[in-house]
Amino acid sequence: MTDTPQKLTILSGIQPSGNLHLGNYFGAVQQFIQFIEQGHACYYFLANYHALTTVRDGQQLLDLTRATAANYLALGLDPERCAIYLQSDLPEVCELQWLLTTVTPMGLLERCHAYKDKVQQGISADHGLFAYPVLMAADILIVRADRVPVGQDQKQHVEVTRDIAQYFNNTYGEVLTIPEPYIPESVATVPGRDGRKMSKSYNNTIGLFSKDDEVRQQIFSIVTDSASLKEPKDPDRSVLYAILKLFCDAGAQAYWEDRFRSGGLGYREVKQAIFDKFMEKFGPARARREELIHNPDYVEEILKRGVGQARKIALPQLRQVRDAMGIRNL
Ligand code: TRP
Repeated sequence: MTDTPQKLTILSGIQPSGNLHLGNYFGAVQQFIQFIEQGHACYYFLANYHALTTVRDGQQLLDLTRATAANYLALGLDPERCAIYLQSDLPEVCELQWLLTTVTPMGLLERCHAYKDKVQQGISADHGLFAYPVLMAADILIVRADRVPVGQDQKQHVEVTRDIAQYFNNTYGEVLTIPEPYIPESVATVPGRDGRKMSKSYNNTIGLFSKDDEVRQQIFSIVTDSASLKEPKDPDRSVLYAILKLFCDAGAQAYWEDRFRSGGLGYREVKQAIFDKFMEKFGPARARREELIHNPDYVEEILKRGVGQARKIALPQLRQVRDAMGIRNL
């Protein structure tokens, strides 16, 4: 982020997918925490309405939602300093979504990749998937977000939000805040165990909350070449080094780079170092998550408080939209 001293409103949505991996942490969660630490007004919500386009089992969705809330709280989304809520606890987003659909050109949504990819594969998409970006626009616009931290894959959706907000403002006056996507360039994509981008769909992840022996097994299965212990190794071509680096400050990076280049470093030693650093970094969060999972009432309390905070901005914004459009406010 540029050095903006003013306080911004930050919003991002989290898919309630239940488990998180290293790629999620370094690609997203870390940015969420940074915005909190910079003192901005942060809103992070679990996108359970959006999840309905993929999860078709009610109990499963409830379980995933609870687990995801515990995961993010454990990782340090501090409920004292940001609002964490459940999308469906703010059903006003659905009303705003409808109002926004009336200024959203079909063509804009037809170009969106989630929908387009499905149609191109010859699978018939449901209306929820088609309308997905408009619901996302409502999520963002209802709290007047300035910045939306997202992964590269969601950039198009934030751009659609900007377009919709601009169409709205051109028609009804300057009512909506035009948000900007925030995609930090400095965040390298985290490689998975096989060297491709770390992704659940490639089955190459290292789970933040997997059991200790699974984490060990995942880390020890990271690809390496067949170089012998003695041989010097090029850190820039090593998946192991790329993952190790995530946990290193500048000094530690220089140390390991040198060890790679000078030879005599075995891959087992590097894997063990990654495992140790992983446990050092995530150990406290892993313990906290265990507590939270066994304390659902506490998590409920936080979600309730969070939606209360979001509603304080969302309701006046929605009233303003209604006023502008000629829908009366009782
Ligand atoms: N679609 C986002 C994802 O898949 C989740 C999401 C829903 C979101 N609403 C949002 C992200 C609003 C940012 C802002 O990751």
